[in-house]
Amino acid sequence: MITRKKLYFILVLFTVCVYLLVDFLSNQQLIKLEGYSSDERFQYSVDTEKFNDDINVVDSFGSCPDGNIITVGFGGQLGNRIWEYMSLYAAYQLYKDECRFYPYVPMEITKDMEVVFQKLWIPILQDLPEVCIQQREKIVIGGHDDIPVKELQGKNAVLELPKYSARYEFVSDYGFDNIRRELRFKPEYVNEVYTNLKSLKSTYYKENDDVVFVGMHYRGTDYVPHIRKYLHEKFEGPPTYEYYNKAMSFFQEKYEKVIFILVTIDTNWIDQNKAGFKKDANLAINPFESEKLKDLALLSHCNHSIISYGSFSSTAALFAGGTTFVYDLQIPLNVKGPILAMGLASRLPNWHVLK
Ligand SMILES: *[C@@H]1O[C@H](CO)[C@@H](O)[C@H](O)[C@H]1NC(C)=O
Repeated sequence: MITRKKLYFILVLFTVCVYLLVDFLSNQQLIKLEGYSSDERFQYSVDTEKFNDDINVVDSFGSCPDGNIITVGFGGQLGNRIWEYMSLYAAYQLYKDECRFYPYVPMEITKDMEVVFQKLWIPILQDLPEVCIQQREKIVIGGHDDIPVKELQGKNAVLELPKYSARYEFVSDYGFDNIRRELRFKPEYVNEVYTNLKSLKSTYYKENDDVVFVGMHYRGTDYVPHIRKYLHEKFEGPPTYEYYNKAMSFFQEKYEKVIFILVTIDTNWIDQNKAGFKKDANLAINPFESEKLKDLALLSHCNHSIISYGSFSSTAALFAGGTTFVYDLQIPLNVKGPILAMGLASRLPNWHVLK
């Protein structure tokens, strides 16, 4: 016989069971969701090398990234492209937590860079469903403006760094040694460089000698009017052999066995300056078949650098990682113009301006 008391007891028990079941199921759901989103986030914050084969993570989830997209415009030549990529990469790394950044790079930049570098990590902008971009507020900032951290907070916007971005300040803050791990030369380029350096060494020294290679670069041709356009009469003209001789003497005094390698495509400048270079130095002028990417790889694998200005040689000198001399344009860093090399020299202890 079911008494009132028993019925009451069963009812209470049933209610408790239902409550526990619902609670259990909803917790399951929560755990699952949390696992999902942190997973997605995780794939973006871990060491890039592990995920080189796993780009386009967001696409595989079939949804738009929940956070701010950071990207960059593109323009110019290889040197500009590399700096656009590095600016984006460094800005992302420095601000990813504060701004909930997801980086995307235009295909045009990746395509140029992946000729000489191994697979790059930043996902391609064009692989992102268009709807992910269309609905977002777009924020564009100037060449050396701060990242608008406050403005980005709580938003799902698109922040675009401008084309020709050359954020030496971000690159030096994040550290080029970290960027080096992302920008790895393809083995075929490196192998050719070592073969060339070895053969060059054999012209001057013995195989087992300790030799220091100093890469020198002169950026002439169209760049000279380009500088004049920005600096007008403040530009006293490009460097001559005198600047290079001064910097070469520094290395000759410091090291016993030095080989200097000068690379430039400006043959007029070579003709005008050739006779003036130091006679007591081992100087090879454009010693190998000249091609932009091979020149970059060659200069990047020297031990030290003497450069004029510009993004191409500034990149090579960063890769070389040694003492670097930069031609002193004697302009402040807050002007619009060719300030990249001088900007790096203002921040890196082993970079020096010289006139
Ligand atoms: C100088 O550069 C050459 C070529 O990249 C390299 O093999 C050598 O180890 C470097 N020397 C030093 C002292 O770093």
